[in-house]
Amino acid sequence: MDQRKMHGMWGSRWTFILAATGSAVGLGNIWKFPYIAGENGGGAFVLVYLVCIALVGIPVMMAEVLIGRRGRMSPINAMRYVTREAGLHSGWTSIGWMGVLAGLMIMAFYSVVAGWALNYVVEAGSGAFNGTSGEIAGGAFGEFLQDKSKLTLWHSLFSVMTLVVVAAGVTRGLGMVARVLMPFLFVVLILLLAYGFKNGDFGAAFNFLFDFKFDKLTWGGVLVALGHAFFTLSLGMGAIMAYGAYMPGHASLGRTIITVGLLDTLVALIAGMAIFPIVFGTPGLEAGAGPGLMFVSLPVAFGNMAAGQLFGTLFFVLVAVAAWSSAVSLIEPGVAWLVESKKFNRITATTALTLLAWLGGMGCIWSNNWLEDKPAGVYVFESLDFLTSQIMLPLGGLFIAIFVGWLMRRAIVCSEMDAEGHPLFDIWLFVVRYVSPILIAIVMILSLYNKFVA
Ligand code: PHE
Repeated sequence: MDQRKMHGMWGSRWTFILAATGSAVGLGNIWKFPYIAGENGGGAFVLVYLVCIALVGIPVMMAEVLIGRRGRMSPINAMRYVTREAGLHSGWTSIGWMGVLAGLMIMAFYSVVAGWALNYVVEAGSGAFNGTSGEIAGGAFGEFLQDKSKLTLWHSLFSVMTLVVVAAGVTRGLGMVARVLMPFLFVVLILLLAYGFKNGDFGAAFNFLFDFKFDKLTWGGVLVALGHAFFTLSLGMGAIMAYGAYMPGHASLGRTIITVGLLDTLVALIAGMAIFPIVFGTPGLEAGAGPGLMFVSLPVAFGNMAAGQLFGTLFFVLVAVAAWSSAVSLIEPGVAWLVESKKFNRITATTALTLLAWLGGMGCIWSNNWLEDKPAGVYVFESLDFLTSQIMLPLGGLFIAIFVGWLMRRAIVCSEMDAEGHPLFDIWLFVVRYVSPILIAIVMILSLYNKFVA
């Protein structure tokens, strides 16, 4: 069947940009980036993250979208197509398989945390934060994490929300919502930035994030930064490859991807500069607080600012929407493959995969993670997060870079990039051939060696 009919197609370059930005901007920017920056000492970590975005993330993103657009199918079948075209061993298709698996593993914990945001919509709306302090907000969050039935409820609700959109088809499903609401997210973040500037310790936050002191940074932290560059750009697991497959042939890849990458980075930095002034300006809050950072510091800001009840509610609604438009792209690669190759209908395919991810999320909830004083045990969230962000996504990116840089015919790469004779094309190809793969390999080898062997 014609690809266009089977999955739909973005109307224009801008629809692709909005959809890709919708996938990229999510919990990774607003929840994860600030807390991992806090856990890894701030400044130097942020610098390494920015270098990874520029030298690995954006160049590899172009390569991944290029494969999708060339193959015009789900990541597994797109990989099969370009592999055949290049006359290579079918083992290269495993990039697609690993991506589908990584997507489900990420969705498992992603949906639980998005559920936290949904719960906080209700909390903020009911005025629970009014006049709150760091200590009270911290205690309330700790209690919430113990409440398994509440966590299950919100996690399940978010799973169903994702299911509905993916089942309806991504192009029809979420495009509209994201297009209208993403600009609002931006506005509310700027508002929080202003609040932090006026009432928090803006100077301390700025120094923390942009004062590059390397003594606090470990190899482990460098791998976290690299892995996060992949995570935040929805890279290395086929999400952006699947979106690339629905991209019209004439749209220029280079500029499009740079726009998405810059928007994503901007949102992360603004989120950091909205959250940390409050952390440093409030007794009892600390930068290294872990996954709860945003859910403790922002209630303090909203609870003590004019019209905070309204803006707080709005903010958590927007976080949930941002998470929603990312979650659909976590499931899409697997769904597209089931529809193409196993003749599933979209609804059955989506239901099956959402259910698998939902079970993983239940594992996160029941293994009592996220608590500060952890008893010995298995921590599903930490394991899923580590395996995906720090192993599978970088490996996926490494193979994609090698594939496009070394194995695809240069003429094909050049025509897909629409870059005949463009001077930047050679620079990009050099980065994809040498810089990105070597950086990924070095960081992975050194940090995993330090973690497990040294
Ligand atoms: N980029 C998303 C975020 O930052 C998460 C994501 C990762 C989505 C991988 C799709 C694929 O929240």
